[in-house]
Amino acid sequence: MPESPNKKTVGFEWRHLSELSDLLNRLGRHGFRSWPGSPEELQTELETLRLDPERDLTLLCADNAVCGYALTLPEKDIDRLVASVASTTDCIPQAGELLDFILCRASTEEVSMVHIAVRGVPLEPIDLLKRQGFKPVTANLELTLERQEATNVTDSPLPDGFSLRQMRSSTETLLLTQVQNAVFEGHWGFSKNTPDEIQARLDLPITGPAHVLFVESPQGDVAGYIWTALEWFEGHTSGKIWMTGVMTAFRKAGIGRALVNAGIKHLFASGAADVQLEVIEDNTAAVHIYTQMGFERSARTEWYEKRV
Ligand SMILES: CC(C)(COP(=O)(O)OP(=O)(O)OC[C@H]1O[C@@H](n2cnc3c(N)ncnc32)[C@H](O)[C@@H]1OP(=O)(O)O)[C@@H](O)C(=O)NCCC(=O)NCCS
Repeated sequence: MPESPNKKTVGFEWRHLSELSDLLNRLGRHGFRSWPGSPEELQTELETLRLDPERDLTLLCADNAVCGYALTLPEKDIDRLVASVASTTDCIPQAGELLDFILCRASTEEVSMVHIAVRGVPLEPIDLLKRQGFKPVTANLELTLERQEATNVTDSPLPDGFSLRQMRSSTETLLLTQVQNAVFEGHWGFSKNTPDEIQARLDLPITGPAHVLFVESPQGDVAGYIWTALEWFEGHTSGKIWMTGVMTAFRKAGIGRALVNAGIKHLFASGAADVQLEVIEDNTAAVHIYTQMGFERSARTEWYEKRV
């Protein structure tokens, strides 16, 4: 379809924040993550992510109204750029320009892969991705456990001498960073975090040290952790398991299950009506634990990759 003269891409500037927020609300959940509802919260999130919004975000406008966007997150340590891209239905024919922006950013960042997550969108944008050489590589499952269905969440024993405790305060930010980076090393799409990034997450209103639990070995080493969060939507409190994992040396001893149990109980005790999480579909161990506890699949997000 020929380019419509009244549709064009423009670089994001902070004065576009309200329009971008409005667009994200209209689009609903579509890419690798959900976005907060208000412009103020969106600003906090954009400032927390590893990006410079005025460099890494572009908008598609029709008659000067924002109808699409592309956001790029360079993750050079794992040689990739993650992108989120979407538009309203009437702007899909111009969405190729958003993909051009993404590929251009990948070239500037000198990374060799672009990853785009696709969830609940019509086929047309997927065709566009495929025509540009993107291929599906993996998928995330979104799982939900309703409070009234949580009959399998019970006390799960830890191995002898191991104990569960809350993160003490932000003085343990470095410890949490080291544990998270070690647990997820080599996992698909995991890019190591810096202590500043972990601190920024701990400072978000929806989470903090009170939502982090550690399991300690008898020698006082951290064997595993679970990091949860609480989100509020229109009077509904939803719990989230953000990250959880067990250090390699301590796996297959029941610690993972005990942590998930403890995290869910903490979220329900904090008022959550349900618990949600995302997990890579082929993470057999984690999917096994969650399904045994009664989690059910609520959505699936497919990741597309292009080598550049
Ligand atoms: C997933 C993870 C937390 C499991 O921790 P763990 O302490 O090894 O798990 P547990 O010992 O409590 O095992 C619980 C169940 O999972 C099963 N399990 C554990 N590892 C498994 C594996 N590699 N493959 C298949 N099943 C496995 C156990 O057999 C057990 O099931 P059962 O009691 O029915 O026999 C751990 O493998 C890990 O940290 N992985 C990396 C990080 C990660 O993937 N986190 C989850 C992201 S959502």
